Amino acid sequence: MTVSLKAELHVDGKVFELPVVQGTEGERAVDTRNLRSQTGLITLDPGFANTGACRSAITFIDGERGILRYRGIPIEELAEHSNFLEVAHLLIYGYLPTEQTLERFSQSVRLHTMLHEDFKRFYGALPKDAHPMAACSAAVGALATFYPDCLDPRDPRQVEISVHRLLAKLPTMAAYAYKHSIGQPFMYPDNRRSYVENFLYMLFGTPCEEYVVEPVVAKAIDLLFILHADHEQNCSTSTVRLVGSSMVNLFACISAGINALWGPRHGGANQEVIHMLVAIRDEGMTARQFVERAKSKDDTSRLMGFGHRVYRNYDPRARVIKKACHDVLGRLGVHSKLLEIAVELEEIALSDEYFIERKLYPNVDFYSGIIYNAIGIPATMFTPMFAIGRLPGWLAHWIEMHADEDFKIGRPRQIYDGATLTHYHEAERH
Ligand code: ACO
Repeated sequence: MTVSLKAELHVDGKVFELPVVQGTEGERAVDTRNLRSQTGLITLDPGFANTGACRSAITFIDGERGILRYRGIPIEELAEHSNFLEVAHLLIYGYLPTEQTLERFSQSVRLHTMLHEDFKRFYGALPKDAHPMAACSAAVGALATFYPDCLDPRDPRQVEISVHRLLAKLPTMAAYAYKHSIGQPFMYPDNRRSYVENFLYMLFGTPCEEYVVEPVVAKAIDLLFILHADHEQNCSTSTVRLVGSSMVNLFACISAGINALWGPRHGGANQEVIHMLVAIRDEGMTARQFVERAKSKDDTSRLMGFGHRVYRNYDPRARVIKKACHDVLGRLGVHSKLLEIAVELEEIALSDEYFIERKLYPNVDFYSGIIYNAIGIPATMFTPMFAIGRLPGWLAHWIEMHADEDFKIGRPRQIYDGATLTHYHEAERH
């Protein structure tokens, strides 16, 4: 990061100079960290749409040009050549591993896939219809009770073990949540299988018969995990950073991130996309009628899977997923009415003035649910799948934040807009 220019702020007849910092891709920011001490002013930016909360070397996004790179490498190239564990290594450690390093890393992750046996009772205590995101968040938080000797965020060895434990155990936790909901026995991980195959085995396998994972299915899930692995300062990652800034343990931070991801405006949108497509199909509505509803101010419906805070162009992940969606469904021989509706919705929206004007394009969630659906993954599991994919990003940001020389507790300010001094006996009662 370089500091070259200065910005001038004119307030009350005085001029204040603020440094302008520049990132490696030419993005510039006014550094306001001393603004209040110099001027008495703060910045007000609801939704943090213009606020850089940190410097980061993990992921670069150019929303106008539709660019996404992890550690400098374009997402399209990672999608074509890499695999999820290699991408996790890239994000967390900052570089691509050699074959040997990757094997060591995969081996270590494999070593930790089992859950403590008492987790069976933990899941058993949850209602059958508990949403798996609530179960995953609770289970991840509970890891802090099982590993009290690994909670110090300043101890690199404890952090590394916790990082590997989380990568290993989250798929097991998500699979357990699903098995609990359908009343099937939990499947112990089979560590001879790859990361994704093991997850699918725990999700769909039973102790009664051999479960063979279709390579095309494993490849599709691996691709989706890669595409979801990081997206710089999104809502859940910012949550992980903010919670982590209090110096609480890593498990508590990831548990909070899972909860943030659950919301329908964030990771929960993939589940909402399928609900929307199913409703259009089952209610006999046309795609055009739904688009009109999504545009209407009198209707709260939105075209789920469309729009993004950062992308004002086609989300590069959506482009890769759309192609994968056609490939996977073709290879599995699945004819999907939902895919037909999605393609039609996209065509209508992309040529509609409302969406053009607001620069609303398909995002990562628009087609991912259709692939999950074709594979037989139930809609409630879509967001836990997103969480497994996003985990390396959360971990990378948490580690980067703790190593940052500017690290301090996150604590935004506010402009107070409430009652002025009101004495107790004068206050109105209702
Ligand atoms: N359908 C219809 N209208 C939309 C949509 C949509 N999907 N998205 C935004 N708009 C409209 C808003 O109504 C608003 O219109 P107005 O200016 O006339 O009031 C305008 O576009 C701007 O919308 P905001 O909500 O202010 O944009 P913001 O950047 O805050 O929100 C968000 C981005 C939350 C993703 C939004 O586009 C949305 O709700 N999309 C649907 C949910 C979704 O797909 N979320 C997944 C995001 S990707 C992810 O988290 C993995």
